Amino acid sequence: MERILSYVEQNRDRYLAELKEFIAIPSVSTNKEDTTDIRRCAEWVAGHMRTIGLNNVQIFPTPGHPVVYGEWLEAPGKPTVLLYGHYDVQPPEPLELWTSPPFEATIRGENLYARGAADDKGQVFIHLKSIEAYLRNNNALPVNIKLLIEGEEEIGSENLDQFVKDHKDLLKADLVLISDSSMFAKDVPSICYGLRGLSYMQIDLVGPNKDLHSGSFGGTVHNPIQALTEIVAQLHDKNGKVTIPGFYNDVRKLSAKERAAFKKLPWSDKKYARELGVKQLYGEKGFSSLERVWARPTLECNGIWGGFTGEGAKTVLPSKASAKISMRLVPDQKSSRAAKLFEKHIRKIAPKTVSITVRNLHGGEAAITPIDSPGVKAAVAALQKGFGKKPLYQREGGSIPIVVQFKELLGLDTVLLGFGLPDENSHAPDEFINLGNFFGGIRTSIHFFNELPGYMNGHRKK
Ligand code: BES
Ligand code: MN
Ligand code: MN
Repeated sequence: MERILSYVEQNRDRYLAELKEFIAIPSVSTNKEDTTDIRRCAEWVAGHMRTIGLNNVQIFPTPGHPVVYGEWLEAPGKPTVLLYGHYDVQPPEPLELWTSPPFEATIRGENLYARGAADDKGQVFIHLKSIEAYLRNNNALPVNIKLLIEGEEEIGSENLDQFVKDHKDLLKADLVLISDSSMFAKDVPSICYGLRGLSYMQIDLVGPNKDLHSGSFGGTVHNPIQALTEIVAQLHDKNGKVTIPGFYNDVRKLSAKERAAFKKLPWSDKKYARELGVKQLYGEKGFSSLERVWARPTLECNGIWGGFTGEGAKTVLPSKASAKISMRLVPDQKSSRAAKLFEKHIRKIAPKTVSITVRNLHGGEAAITPIDSPGVKAAVAALQKGFGKKPLYQREGGSIPIVVQFKELLGLDTVLLGFGLPDENSHAPDEFINLGNFFGGIRTSIHFFNELPGYMNGHRKK
């Protein structure tokens, strides 16, 4: 172990230089026309897997962006870890808000700034470097490992379900390990055991059949922007509850025990509001901030557009208006059901003055993972060794829909071992990974592989 850990120390600079190379490939998955960079990134990942000593490395094409697979299976009788992550990233725009260019990883202070630094290239790289350290110094890992690194996570993993269904044998394992979430706070390592689901909708309204002069026509037709904002404004009541009938029907109640556990976490609403620059927090009445984000369903308008938004003034009564609205869901809500309830409600409250289209763009299910599993026990021990602190248990508000699919299709529980930070600016300008977390993550990964067999004894699937 000592040799493996000190190898990491000795190779810090090279590890960071390689991460910079990985990050430099702008693998933005929303860009479906020009997939050159996505493919280049998949190849880079595959090449790196081969360099560090993984076997059977393959790039699987899908109807969308390719999946990269690699394995090391030379530990007979030992558990097999299926490591999932994604090499695709969110678009970097608006570029002018970045302090340094998004695809030129730049170290400032104790952070490395770049798109994908934390979500998820940096966290995937943590495990690649841990595997390298084992294979270079020990010629072997204490476990078998299969890596599944996809390129469509940020656009809803459209083709991953089918890929998993088609490759059940290839992906056979004892548990899934994912590093694609955050620690509770800096120097506060945590195990995540819950993620929210998602249902992402778009509403398009059409009023008059063309843009109109607002002076000549204003007052006679319902402006679609007004109609749309009237609809959106009705989706929450004065207590911050979502007004869609039946929306809360399937919501699993927070147990008294879990509420008490959340209350014990080191949290300050005041500090949170200050950091976000809001004058006051907002949310569903009767629940704390952590409860609202982690365990309550919510509805957000992600974007709304229509009419004239350029410089200056243009007196127009627009023909169209649209909005993108997402619902974050919790167990036991189903994303398809939330989408249906949404559409039904929107149609019911939409005025007769406009025509309306409601579309379901994508969705995924919420997950709760067991916290008494051998994988989680190994992760607790590993975090303790990697960060010198006992981790706490938390949930997250974000979504990784494949977690539920791994359970359903492969029967596997997931360990969510996040090394990001809550203020890491993922999906936003100046995304970063903390260097202490990056190297602490590598140490933790090394310890995790080392601890796992001991905890798995007697828990293996046949
Ligand atoms: N890494 C995130 C998921 C995440 C975010 C986990 C915050 C924990 C905390 C992932 O890359 C992501 O952004 N997921 C999308 C899912 C969607 C596109 C289906 C999300 O949560 O919006
Ligand atoms: Mn991610
Ligand atoms: Mn993301």
